[in-house]
Amino acid sequence: MERKTHILVIPYPVQGHINPMLQFSKRLATKGTRVTLVATSTIRNSMQALQGASSVNIEIISDGSEGDETVESLIATVDRFKDVVSQSLAEYIEKLNSSKYPPKFIVYDCALPWALDVARKYGIDGAPFYTQSCAVNLVYYHFKKGTVRLPLEEPTVSLPSMPKLAINDLSSLLSNPSSYPPLLNLFLDQFSNFLEAKWIFFSSFKELELEVVNWVASQKWPIKTIGPTIPSMYLDKRLEDDKEYGLHLFKPDMDACIKWLDRKETNSVIYTSFGSLASLGEEQMQELTWGLKNSNCYFLWVVRETEQKKLPTNFLQEIAEKGLVVSWCSQLEVLAHKAIGCFMTHCGWNSTLEALSLGVPMVAMPQWTDQPTNAKFIADVWKVGVRIKLDERGIATKEEIEFCIREVIEEERGKEMRMNSVKWKELAKEAMDEGGSSDKNIEEFVAELVGL
Ligand code: UDX
Repeated sequence: MERKTHILVIPYPVQGHINPMLQFSKRLATKGTRVTLVATSTIRNSMQALQGASSVNIEIISDGSEGDETVESLIATVDRFKDVVSQSLAEYIEKLNSSKYPPKFIVYDCALPWALDVARKYGIDGAPFYTQSCAVNLVYYHFKKGTVRLPLEEPTVSLPSMPKLAINDLSSLLSNPSSYPPLLNLFLDQFSNFLEAKWIFFSSFKELELEVVNWVASQKWPIKTIGPTIPSMYLDKRLEDDKEYGLHLFKPDMDACIKWLDRKETNSVIYTSFGSLASLGEEQMQELTWGLKNSNCYFLWVVRETEQKKLPTNFLQEIAEKGLVVSWCSQLEVLAHKAIGCFMTHCGWNSTLEALSLGVPMVAMPQWTDQPTNAKFIADVWKVGVRIKLDERGIATKEEIEFCIREVIEEERGKEMRMNSVKWKELAKEAMDEGGSSDKNIEEFVAELVGL
């Protein structure tokens, strides 16, 4: 029997990187390749069971940690991570090389550019996988190149193929370079050797970021947009072939969510979530609480366990009629539910793509890193949501939150946003359908790789 081409896919151990890289792996498996997702030991204890049988193998190699790590500890250990994973990845490749399934290619998280050097020692080629938008990455690239310098001298930044970006539209790591220097270095380092790679994958789709993708192509970067990496069962309800879809690092409480949503009318619920990493200040949490309550809409709010102590006392009793708070959910399942009328989001790139692909308009409340740029595009480029304005203390007040929710959810005012959301939903599905821009890119990659 012919041996399948074996591809290793190695994500950085956080939810927002694992999700798109796992979904991409599954897509590669449907194209006839053997795929192993090489996760690292940080997530060993927090991994919830993969739902359904997996078409993708999962292997865990050491990154020097065995625990549920916080953002802070991950950032503090960036160098250790590189040293340990370089070594354990090399050992794993050696082991596979003397097995039935020697790897032919490695797709590595753009935060791990050194993985290419490791693979090349064994004669294996590789491609980085960019988990954030093309636009955000292009901004980082221009900073790396020195086209724009830090700290910023002008109130707006003009870059090719991009709308003018004000300071607060930029990644927080650029507008506030002293906030997390190791993280900024990590994002700038992703361009250290990227042009040595044979392909460059972006978790986006061409139609969504047309100008940026065209500019990048004009630079002759070998880029391939391969998104949205969302299971087909959500992009197209008729396809039921994709039962297994996620590797959660938190335990979802789906029974409660779906039972509750099933009892609500179409488009009547605000889904609120700030992803897997962002942490809101206590004052902000209080304003958000009352903003949601005062909107008088139903709301489903994901408050991770570590954040729940910031909820006002007696809050849960007070909102019992209108709101449901859970510590994690299966976000795609929630966003796809007909009861959801609006997504109040931190604008993480996955959440943004998921909302766009499922046609849900957004209230954008960016927190850090790439999220302000995503919020700019949500409100002003794709026109699928409103962005919350912060007061002089940097807080989104309850009045502003209530106002923005009403903008999106109320019939007349939210009409244009809802129409645009439907348009992007259709374009997202087309990109992933057979012959669509992303599907073609994946097909071409696999065909070339198998032929190498
Ligand atoms: C972070 C960054 O914010 C993001 O911009 C970057 O590109 C990746 O790392 P995170 O903050 O967790 O990720 O946000 P996001 O990118 O939106 O990813 C969160 C993922 O968790 C999404 O795929 C979402 O569907 C999932 N999720 C979130 C759940 O499944 N359940 C939840 O309750 C909340």
